Amino acid sequence: MIQADLTGYVAAVTGASSGFGKAISKTLGEAGAHVFMCGRTASALEETKAEIESAGGGATISTFDIRDLEALDKFVRDAGGLKGRLDVMVNNAGLGYNKPITEGHADEWREMLDVNVLSLLQGCKSAVDVMRETKSEGRIINISSTSTLRRDSGVYGATKYAVNNINSTLRQELEDDTIRVTAIKPGVFVTNFVRNLQPEMVRGMMEMVGMSDVQPDNEGKFPTAVLQEFQKKMGSVAGDPQAVADVVLYVASLPVSVNVEELVIRPPKSMTI
Ligand SMILES: NC(=O)c1ccc[n+]([C@@H]2O[C@H](COP(=O)([O-])OP(=O)(O)OC[C@H]3O[C@@H](n4cnc5c(N)ncnc54)[C@H](OP(=O)(O)O)[C@@H]3O)[C@@H](O)[C@H]2O)c1
Repeated sequence: MIQADLTGYVAAVTGASSGFGKAISKTLGEAGAHVFMCGRTASALEETKAEIESAGGGATISTFDIRDLEALDKFVRDAGGLKGRLDVMVNNAGLGYNKPITEGHADEWREMLDVNVLSLLQGCKSAVDVMRETKSEGRIINISSTSTLRRDSGVYGATKYAVNNINSTLRQELEDDTIRVTAIKPGVFVTNFVRNLQPEMVRGMMEMVGMSDVQPDNEGKFPTAVLQEFQKKMGSVAGDPQAVADVVLYVASLPVSVNVEELVIRPPKSMTI
């Protein structure tokens, strides 16, 4: 566990209702930051808020679809307004459909491009505006993926290539500011991310943990209870999202004189999506 004191800091985390975003929010909150969290699932955000508060931290939640860029801008501005500072912005919300391009649908491509790319861009821009206005020493952390270490990771991978390019361009644009920009590229970790993956791929992963007799429903989706059991079992072989949260805490705690462009975080056992 990384030890860092973020007392007095204000952080904003998108996609905070599950997976990495939930672990990141909890970790930053427990280190002393007041964490602004957003997602669409109010109950999950409330749960994390309660956990942060019981650890002595502060949290504020906002429920909206992150494709609503005005709502996202307001969320970031509200975070900056709490104490006149914004120290950390984590652009984490994202999703992946991994159908072959020849079997894909425009609505799925659009959702990935909107959430993974456009909302991340708006999150970066809003954070820069607020960090500049409040003269904060800020960190923008963008969640990319090891899918960008491959050349054939499909439309999802393409959205994360865009994230890398945005990250590196913005990092350079801000060299004369007190704002640092870092991309984190996780490998495969156990989160709710699998909910949109192809059933054959999920079944293959389930077989790795001894769940060989489970079938998806007529729409190709696995029931939530099955996914939960799968995640519990996968935890013993794949990565725990806490590892990514620890890396975010580490980056968030660095002085702005340290300019980290990107980090690759692997699970204990590597898998490919
Ligand atoms: N898990 C992995 O192996 C892995 C590896 C590399 C990179 N990543 C990246 O890590 C990030 C987090 O994913 P995860 O694995 O933690 O998956 P997850 O458990 O499914 O979490 C995704 C988060 O994004 C939010 N989100 C998605 N669409 C949204 C929308 N339209 N509006 C608002 N919020 C939305 C979800 O919130 P609601 O559903 O409540 O709206 C949820 O909080 C993503 O950018 C993903 O691409 C994941």
